Amino acid sequence: MSKKIILSGIQATGKLTLGNYLGAIDNWVKMQEEYECYYMIANLHSLTVRNDPETLRNNTLKIIAIYVAAGLDPEKNNIFIQSQVKEHAELGWILNCYTYMGELSRMTQFKDKSLKHADNINAGLFTYPVLMAADILLYQANLVPVGADQMQHLEIARDIAERFNKIYGKTFVIPEGYITKTSGRIMGLQDPTSKMSKSATNLNDVIFLEDEPEVILKKFKKAVTDSENIVKFDPENKPGVSNLMQIYGSVTSKTMEEVEKEFEGSGYGNFKTKVAEAVVEKLEPIQKKYKELLNNPEYLEKIYKKGADNARKLASKTLDTVKEKIGIII
Ligand code: TRP
Repeated sequence: MSKKIILSGIQATGKLTLGNYLGAIDNWVKMQEEYECYYMIANLHSLTVRNDPETLRNNTLKIIAIYVAAGLDPEKNNIFIQSQVKEHAELGWILNCYTYMGELSRMTQFKDKSLKHADNINAGLFTYPVLMAADILLYQANLVPVGADQMQHLEIARDIAERFNKIYGKTFVIPEGYITKTSGRIMGLQDPTSKMSKSATNLNDVIFLEDEPEVILKKFKKAVTDSENIVKFDPENKPGVSNLMQIYGSVTSKTMEEVEKEFEGSGYGNFKTKVAEAVVEKLEPIQKKYKELLNNPEYLEKIYKKGADNARKLASKTLDTVKEKIGIII
């Protein structure tokens, strides 16, 4: 039986965070044996905000390096840059014509981002979920690992696929969202009620994958907790401590009960240091490999070119089928 297909991606905007790693990439690594995996760098999605061109180029390469450094084997996974598989933009346009303004207007991310970038509410920001649907549907993906904040976009991808299938007969696989245990819900260290975000204004809120050990330690020391001084998992009432426990649990593969036991009677000071040390220990080998990879752009190029060549095979097949069905001469 052929393997199930997974597709996911990360935008090329900004520096990757511990949240991206624990919530996404680390889980992908665990799936590479069982599934046929396509992981892209969503650099076309990045254009919905203004970027410095050089930074966008560098960020794209950095994400490829992180993917590989974190353990995604380029021989087993198709790692590619979205823009290098032109089928994405093309199917994106076609699907725009099968998506309603009304459904796009309901997207909470669009509403949030419009508030944040009030001076640049461009059409791309509005149709962002349609391009994401194209990303997914081109590969007939069965599973799409995403953070909870992307579930609404996944729903719209499913709706578009179902709509298309209903008109033209079965064309697309209906993708399932897949929220993993930590599921991207690594929260900010300063504001543990919202997701750790690379666009946070307070830099102490977020651990970047490139942060040096001293910086990581300093940020964890400053993490917001509460006045109870008890290490107990209770996201509702103790969001800060629970988030630190979740981070610790993810990097050490321990359950919340085990973490509670380990820190019974320990104050927050010691606990925070231990969390920081565990994170540093987990990130150090990845950072080392990451630096090596960035110094080897030829190798990175080999990876993403091969990834795009493989991705294109599947993507162009799907796109041809779509064109055939809707009356576009191939
Ligand atoms: N929109 C996703 C995010 O911001 C990134 C993304 C683009 C993506 N295309 C995708 C995720 C396809 C999963 C599948 O994180």
